[in-house]
Formats: sequence, structure tokens, C-alpha cells
Amino acid sequence: RTIHLADYTPFTHVVEQVHLTFRLAPGATRVISKIAFAPNPDSKGGAFFLHGEDLKLIHARIDGESVIPNAAEGGITCDVPEGPFTWEAEVEISPQTNTALEGLYMSNGMYCTQCEAEGFRKITFYPDRPDVMAPFDVRIEGELPVLLSNGNPAARGDGWAEWSDPWPKPAYLFALVAGDLVNHPDRFTTRSGRDVELNIWVREPDLGKCAFGMDALKRSMKWDEEVYGREYDLDIFNIVAVDDFNMGAMENKGLNIFNSSAVLASPETATDANFERIESIIAHEYFHNWTGNRITCRDWFQLCLKEGLTVFRDQQFSGDERSHAVQRINDVLALRARQFREDNGPLAHPVRPESFVEINNFYTATVYEKGAEVIGMLKRLVGDEGYSKALDLYFSRHDGDAATIEDWLKVFEDATGRDLSQFKRWYSQAGTPRIAVQESFDNGTYTLTLSQSTPPTPGQPDKEPLVIPVAVGLLSPNGDEVVPTRVLELTEAEQSFTFDGLSAKPVASILRSFSAPVVLERDQSASERAFLLAHDTDPFNKWEAGRALAKDVLIRMITEGAAPDPALLTALENVARDETLDPAFRALALGLPGQDDLAQTLYQSGRTPDPLAIYDAVQQLRKAIAEQLGTTLSDLYDDMAVHGPYRPDAGDAGQRALRQAALGFLSLLDGGVRAQSQYETADNMTEQLGALACLLDIGKAETALAAFRHQWQEDRLVMDKWFGLQSGLAAPAKAAAAVHRLTEDPGFDWKNPNRFRAVMGGLAMNAAGFHDPSGASYALLTDWLILLDPVNPQTTARMLTAFETWKHYDADRQGLIRENLERLAATPGLSRDSSEMVGRILGD
Ligand code: ARG
Ligand code: ZN
Repeated sequence: RTIHLADYTPFTHVVEQVHLTFRLAPGATRVISKIAFAPNPDSKGGAFFLHGEDLKLIHARIDGESVIPNAAEGGITCDVPEGPFTWEAEVEISPQTNTALEGLYMSNGMYCTQCEAEGFRKITFYPDRPDVMAPFDVRIEGELPVLLSNGNPAARGDGWAEWSDPWPKPAYLFALVAGDLVNHPDRFTTRSGRDVELNIWVREPDLGKCAFGMDALKRSMKWDEEVYGREYDLDIFNIVAVDDFNMGAMENKGLNIFNSSAVLASPETATDANFERIESIIAHEYFHNWTGNRITCRDWFQLCLKEGLTVFRDQQFSGDERSHAVQRINDVLALRARQFREDNGPLAHPVRPESFVEINNFYTATVYEKGAEVIGMLKRLVGDEGYSKALDLYFSRHDGDAATIEDWLKVFEDATGRDLSQFKRWYSQAGTPRIAVQESFDNGTYTLTLSQSTPPTPGQPDKEPLVIPVAVGLLSPNGDEVVPTRVLELTEAEQSFTFDGLSAKPVASILRSFSAPVVLERDQSASERAFLLAHDTDPFNKWEAGRALAKDVLIRMITEGAAPDPALLTALENVARDETLDPAFRALALGLPGQDDLAQTLYQSGRTPDPLAIYDAVQQLRKAIAEQLGTTLSDLYDDMAVHGPYRPDAGDAGQRALRQAALGFLSLLDGGVRAQSQYETADNMTEQLGALACLLDIGKAETALAAFRHQWQEDRLVMDKWFGLQSGLAAPAKAAAAVHRLTEDPGFDWKNPNRFRAVMGGLAMNAAGFHDPSGASYALLTDWLILLDPVNPQTTARMLTAFETWKHYDADRQGLIRENLERLAATPGLSRDSSEMVGRILGD
């Protein structure tokens, strides 16, 4: 059944108070609810309906009288009194057999919950919709040392604990954790003087992996006070690490639950990239306390209201904590790799979708990352001051509300006086806009003509012009900036902008900082790109120029069999050697476009990508860079060594990243000598794993792989890396066989989402291996998805995005993929999650 945004109606009742009692038992937990309902003055009428799924009803009462509710689709209906009443129910559920990891489930003997988006209905009968907000009191009974829920602790005794959350919240923010856990404690005093107890709860062996997460939490709390004026609002903030989790983490009020991969870190077991990701996810979940919890979403179509904004906030935070330039480049890399890819195929949907079958399928790069980009554009259009006035108004006007995108845009209109009706199209129109560029220079006047168009996407054949902020700066031919960054507002299909008083034709730096999530179609000569790489004052565009140059070269190598362009090699060498540049930036500049990115680019220019040709060209270019830049790279490898104890900060991480980039090239020449010795001497996971990756890349990792496994077999998160690296780096023709072998490894615990994703996600990202012409990888992935679907529909459905670009490939590959997708579609009892995905991907 499809749910439509247009069909929104308020709930018949309001909930004044919720009391829940849990009697925990693995196979038969009792949940006793007592809920105070009152008629909702905004209701348009209708039957009283409560959601409920997989619940065994023991009994139900209204105002103390037994009632027998009527079964309805996805829940129950019941005749209720006209005025306020108390609903009581006792249900039985089975956490132990809940492998979908939604609702109340067990992970290695520990009870935990995941309720967003619609998991609470698997715990008890309830109006499980975000616009129904209520204070919750919770009692947990169970013989486990740690019993946690939302809010503040109220009382505790032997075998029970009570929690009370004073802040009205929707059911999706409910959480419960019970287990044999230990805590890494700390405290934080808010700026108005509230003393907050902080804890990260883990299994005993993980206690040494909490310090970084705790530090990130305290920095996030401080940052939100300083930058957004937002303070924490309870006496305690708990974070729990869970090994079996479908997503990254969850912002449950006062009790955030994290995938252990998103919180646990130590120098020996986590890489720089892991530390960075943990810092941003801790911040993200913490920031949700205001953007998500205090102000939530009216319905799930408004998901970007909390997610786009919270991603935007965590990106700002990471930029402030580390480097804005590096942050922006990494965010754009991720946006292009995931969101542009999504926008360019059958799964394209607006930032605010208008219909869905299963909402879990819409926790997407479009809702999250493009949702954040839309906020970045708004901020650029109204300015920093306008943005901060609008946000203050948002928090004061909507605190306690379940709000909409209309509410969000209205605060910007009211705070700044700007009409946002055209801008609003960013929320409803799917697809990545293209901007074509024409330039002319005449008599001291430079004219830039920009035209926009957005390709058709499913259900949206025709597109209207958007408001696109295009940040532009001009450089003189000798490399000086003659016009500093100015934001052009492109609102029409085609528009010209002029700059006068110039003494020579300038070189334009367009879309600085990637000021809008668009594809800039600009035919630029290699020399102009190299010029911008050398001289642009905007760090993003400086990097972008190098990236575009490398892309042009690779496309010519792929399509015309051209040789690696020496101009690119020289430009890269200049950047690599430029000591005025941050090592992290230089590492990014030495990174080549990904194979999937190249495939997308080819497809967009009307060609059919051949994954093997792309792979070969990238290998050939890497080899050429290694040969040409050999001395520079070898110097860098030596100079970038970090001495002293490992620290995960941006400076040291940047040096390690540049050193690793050098090692990747050097290993193509030195037979792995440096990588082998780095592998043996590394005292941190970044360098150990980096060396292992280089050895795998050149086919010399056998000994190191065995040693790595021996050293880390007791550490799940590290073993995920061992699995993921092998499937991600398997040689194209052998990928399916290699991954098949990994699935036969006793360590392949496929019901654990992290392990499944490490292996199958690795294969999907191994572009040439995944698209092996035999179809073996398609079949292997499909076999495993068919197996996983009845166990864990969410993770299955998400992994199906591996096929979202299938229409870009040749007829043979399309035929093979279609066969597999149809095989999956025909699987009896296929989940709602997976059937929706496969239907959309096939295009029916
Ligand atoms: N709200 C969480 C976050 O962004 C994501 C949880 C989504 N979970 C799900 N099963 N759809 O941090
Ligand atoms: Zn979020």
C-alpha cells in the first residue's frame, strides 16, 4: 500500500501520558501499557486506530473495563468513549527471534530497541506516528545489571529501574537497553549551569574504546551552545554501543543507541577515517536533540526537516573542528558518489518525497545529503545573519512541535523578508540540475551566461527552473584574484551576468565551495584547468580543477585509448610538492576519480561505460603517476611520517593520508617493500590497514592477511575491515570467487549487518568486479539478498541500491541484472522493503 503526503490527517486523539512496564524475557517479554488519551481538537474524525505488528495481545482495557479490539490492517480499531479515557494493554513479544533489528530485539544477550521510523508498533499498540507526542514513564523489570530508558532516572531497585522523560516525544524516539554493560563516565556543565551525567555504555572488553567518543560528545555539546545557542535539557545523557544495528546510530531522547562501528575507537583498532566518522555521528545524534527531538516531523514525508538540517549541522561542526576545505571536498565526494548516483537512476526522488510504501527505504542520500545541501544554499542566499535569525525563530516558534517544510521555509521568510516560493522547488523536484556555461569578453566586460536544466526523473518528466546560488570569482591571466567571490542567483532557465572594468579576459572560478548540488557542464581546456589548480583561491575549486583535469584525461584514455597526459602528471606533481598546501588537501588532490564516478560521467555524456576499460585506464594512470612522480612520492613518504604517539587529530591524520596516497603509488613500483615493512611496524590501525590495502592491491597480501586475522580475530570491528578490504579490492575477474570464499569463512556472520555490509557492500563498490561480464557477482549478491530478506528486510533493501545504476550499462549486463532482479522479485514472501525497492529499480 502506498502512503501519500497529500493524504495527511491529524490523529483522532492526543496522548497526555504514557506508562510502560517491561517484564523482560528473551522469548516472551511482556509489555504493559497505560496510556491517557483525550480527543484531539484538530481531528477531522474517524475511527480510533492503534498501530501494532507481531504483538500477542494478552488483554486490553478502557477505563478499567475489558475490551476486545477489532483487527485492522497494521493494527487495531476500538470503540472508545467520547471524552478522555485510559487505554491499558498487555502484550507479549519475542526479542530473541527479532532478527529484523526493529522494535525490541537482542544483540549478544543484550536487549535494545530501534523504533525509527515505525518500530514502536512492534513493541505495543500505539499511535506510532511522529505527530503524536507525549511524556513517557517507563519501568523495566529484568535480572540484568544495567536497565536504561529515556529521560531522567526516577527510581531503581533490585531487578528493576524506572525512568521518566518529561519532554513530550513521538514513539520513534523511545528506547530501552538492558544488559551486562559497563560505562565510561564523564560530566558536562551546560552554559546555564545544568550538571549533566554522561555515559558511554559498552561490553566490558570495549571499555578502552570510549574515550574519543566521549570527547567528541563534549565538544558537540559545547559547539551547539556556542553556534546555535542550544543547551542540553536532561540530567543525564547515555550512549550505548550495539553490535547488531541496521544503521549508524539513533537519536532516542537522552539514550542514543549506536552501531558499535560508529562510536568505538582506539588507535590500534580504528583508522583516521573511523575517528572522523565517529566524531561526526556523535555530533549528528547529539544535535538531533534540538533538530529532531524538541522539534520533530509532522509525518515521515518531512524527514529531511530533521535529517537535512542535522547533517548540515554536523558538517558545520566537523568543518569547525577540522578543516572547512577538506570537509567540503569530502562532503562533495560523498554527495556525488551516493546522491548524484541515486538522482541519476530509477530511485531518484525529491528531498521531500510525496509517496512511499516503506519509509525505511527513504533514509537516503537524497533526504540526508541533498537535504543538507538545500540548507547550505538557503544560508548562502540569506547570509549568515539571516540564517541565524531564521534559526532562532525556528527554535522559538516551533519548540515542542511536529513541524513541516512549510514551517521551516516560513521562518526564513519571516526572519529575512525573502520570498522562497521558487526556492521551495528544491524540496519537490528530483534530479540533479545541469548548468551549462558560456563566456564572452568584450571591452573590459566579462559576460557569464548560465543555463539550467534538470533531466526527467521517475514521475517527473518536466522540470521548472530552480533558484541556484552560483558562487563565482575571477582571476586575472597572471593568477591574481580580480573579482572576489560573488554569489550569482540563477533563477531562470538562462541568465547572463556581467563584470566590468577588467583589463583582460579573466579565468572564472565557477561554483566555488560547490555552492549548489548541480553538475557544472563546462568544456574547459586542460591548461585552464591546470591554471585554476595552481591559482584558485577557493580551496574547493582548486581541488575541483585538478579533479576535472584527471577526469578529462581518464575519459580520453577510456574512450580513445589516449596515453596519460603529461600535463596532468606535471600538475599533480606541483600540487604534491607544494608545501604551502595542507597535507590532507594534497592527499585529496592525488586521489583519482572513482571508477563508478567515471561510469556515471560516461553515461551522462551519452556513452555506455565499460567497467573493465575504466578499471584498466585507472590502473594505467596510477602506474604512470607512480613512474613520473616517483622521487616526489618517495620523498613525501619519508617526510610525512608522523612521529610520537598516535593522535587522531586533523593535522596528523592529514599527514598520514598523504603518506598513504604516496604509498599506494609507490607500491606499484617497489614490489610492496615499503608496504610490507610498514605493515610490520605500524602501531596504529590507519597505517596497518593502509599497508594491507597496498599489499592486496598488488596481489602480495597473503602473509599479511593471515597475520592480520590471527592478531584481530577477537575484534569484530577490525575483522569487518579484513572482510571488506578483500571483497573491495579483489581483482575484477576473480571478485565473485573471492567473495564466495569469504562467505564460506566461519567468521562470515551474515546476520550481523556490519559483517554482511563489509562483504557484500565491498563487492558492490568493487565496480569492475561487480560488473564482471559473466554476471557471477550479480548472481552471488542476489543469492545472499534472497537469503537475508526474511531475516533482515531493511539491510536487504538497502543493499539493493547496488543495482540502481543498471540501466547505464550494456544490453548484456542489463539482461543479467534483470534476470537476477526478477528472480528476487519472484521470491515468495519477499518483504515490503525489498519489493518496493526492486519494483522501483526495475521501473514498474
Ligand atoms: N535518525 C537516525 C539518524 O539519522 C537514523 C535512523 C534510521 N533508522 C531506520 N531504520 N530507518 O541518525
Ligand atoms: Zn539523523
